[in-house]
Amino acid sequence: MEAVLKFRKDKSVSIDLSLNLEEEIRKLKKELNAVILAHYYQESEIQDLADFIGDSLQLSQQASKTEAEVIVFAGVHFMAETAKILNPGKQVLLPDLNAGCSLAEGCPAELLKKFRDKYPDHILISYINCTADVKAISDIICTSSNAVKIVNKLKPDQKIIFAPDKNLGKYVMKQTGRDMVLWQGSCIVHETFSERKIIRLKTEHPDALLISHPECEESVLAESDFIGSTSGLLKYVTDSENKKFIVATEPGIIHQMLLKNKDKTFIPAPPENNCSCNECPYMKLNTLEKLYLCMRDRKPELTIEKEILEKAAIPLQRMLDMS
Ligand code: 13P
Ligand code: SF4
Repeated sequence: MEAVLKFRKDKSVSIDLSLNLEEEIRKLKKELNAVILAHYYQESEIQDLADFIGDSLQLSQQASKTEAEVIVFAGVHFMAETAKILNPGKQVLLPDLNAGCSLAEGCPAELLKKFRDKYPDHILISYINCTADVKAISDIICTSSNAVKIVNKLKPDQKIIFAPDKNLGKYVMKQTGRDMVLWQGSCIVHETFSERKIIRLKTEHPDALLISHPECEESVLAESDFIGSTSGLLKYVTDSENKKFIVATEPGIIHQMLLKNKDKTFIPAPPENNCSCNECPYMKLNTLEKLYLCMRDRKPELTIEKEILEKAAIPLQRMLDMS
């Protein structure tokens, strides 16, 4: 009889090969009374197991209203922190605690505080892609899907510092016609898209529309037919009568685009180098194997110091109320 070669994709962990991980995860979900929340940038096999898939805003809204006892967050650290801030009494599990974010890492709270102190008459709006410490010193949080709306709701003479993403900040300035002081952070994934290669792709596929996330650089956004958060991009391609799209965001979203639009073609926007740097290395630290282990062992668990958690909850709740 032919030998069946069984293997696990994630070789960094060792798990009994005979286990059907999907089944085990479903069983554990019931046992723990857990909800699995997954961001669109997760591996498709994780998305397929999630109770809810969404962008940063939708996931925080979902986290704020869940009745589950345990929240398993298949996303990055700042997202799991957000879920914990909104649910201090619940256990929040993240498959890999090292799943960070270049925006959060490039904006330490001590430095942002010094920066903010230079502008005492400004309020600080922080993009949700930041640490709990940064949220704790912010006045309002926003995501890529509500940033323009939130800035538009503020009094016209209100002075604003926007952190940490300079590209989203510039986009919001353009959309609202307001001036803002920008922290100079960026997303290592969205700044990697090559304008040169995108223009070439557009020439090769004149029937394709270019859709981009506002974390992309200004030059890519200028070429775009539509700009939106991950959920905005998904909605746009689903509502559109066009059949082909060049997608300038993390390609994990294409899984949902294809599930909802079987007759359409999605071309991932290429990075400048011949690398896979259009995939978020932090998001991809979460694997099916680690998802199973974190539920089986109920760790790693996300914890936040009480004082920081209480302070961070204020601007976050402000965002949810304004959304
Ligand atoms: P949204 O989830 O708001 O679209 O942001 C994308 C992102 O980069 C998340 O880290
Ligand atoms: Fe952070 Fe960019 Fe990864 Fe989103 S895609 S988690 S912004 S590094």
